[in-house]
This record gives sequence, C-alpha cells and structure tokens, in this order.
Amino acid sequence: MTDYKELVKKAFEAQKSSYSPYSHFKVGAALLSEEGKVYLGCNIENATFTPTNCAERTAFFKAVSEGVKDFTAIAIVGNTDSVEAGSGDYCAPCGVCRQVMAEFCDPETFSIILAKSENDYVVLSLKELLPLGFTNKNLSK
Ligand code: THU
Repeated sequence: MTDYKELVKKAFEAQKSSYSPYSHFKVGAALLSEEGKVYLGCNIENATFTPTNCAERTAFFKAVSEGVKDFTAIAIVGNTDSVEAGSGDYCAPCGVCRQVMAEFCDPETFSIILAKSENDYVVLSLKELLPLGFTNKNLSK
C-alpha cells in the first residue's frame, strides 16, 4: 500500500487554518493531484451557517480554480477540541463532498485517506464511500 504519511502530515497542517468558531470541529484536507502537487483545504464556517464550506471542497475548489482536474488521493483529518494528531476520530467526508469528488475522480482508483495521526489511517476508494453515485456518465447515456 502507498505510504500516505506525508499527505496526512499536510492535512494536519491545513487543519490549523480551520475557521470553525461555531462547531469547533476542525477539519483539514490535503488533495494530491496526478502531477504531484498538493492542495490544502480547511473548513470555513459562517455566522449564517449555510455558506459553510468543508475542508475537502475547499481543497478541490482551490485546485480546480487553478486548472487542475486530475487527482489521485485526498487525506482528511478532523476533530473537535484540538489540532493535536491522534486526538480525534476518523473523519469521513460528507455526502456533498463525496459528490464533488465523484465529479472529478475515478471511483475505482481515487483514494480517500481518513487519518487520526500520521501512523494511524485507513484508505478507502471513492467507490466504497459513494456506491452507485450519479455522475456525468449517467447524463451522457
Ligand atoms: N466538515 C468538514 O469540513 N469535512 C467533513 O468531512 C465533515 C464536516 C466540517 C463542516 C463544519 O464546518 C464542521 O465540520 C462540522 O460539521
């Protein structure tokens, strides 16, 4: 299995920027492009709640807005009270973020790494997290 230690490390780095004064749930994501560049994302909350953006989508939108649309993996870390590695649980992406991943990523090969620390993580495929997803392939049939 690929060693995702470095990508997880970057997700923890991104988590430090989390703007989450309402939930106090700090999330960080590190998205790896096919060409090897890493895009960091954090959750960004809002006083009116609805505009809140998840860490994963922040990372995706940063990359896509810079013209990058091919990705191999994303590492995600999240917890409530601290940004210390290992203090949280695995943080699985919400349904909306899974759908955004499905827009750009191959469900069989895109890896989603849920980490508690650099040494404690699980790797799942997008297909496992979004079975029978609706994508642009359905629209073209
Ligand atoms: N959140 C993420 O950023 N990513 C996830 O995978 C789950 C939830 C954020 C949204 C909100 O700012 C906070 O975590 C609590 O839901």
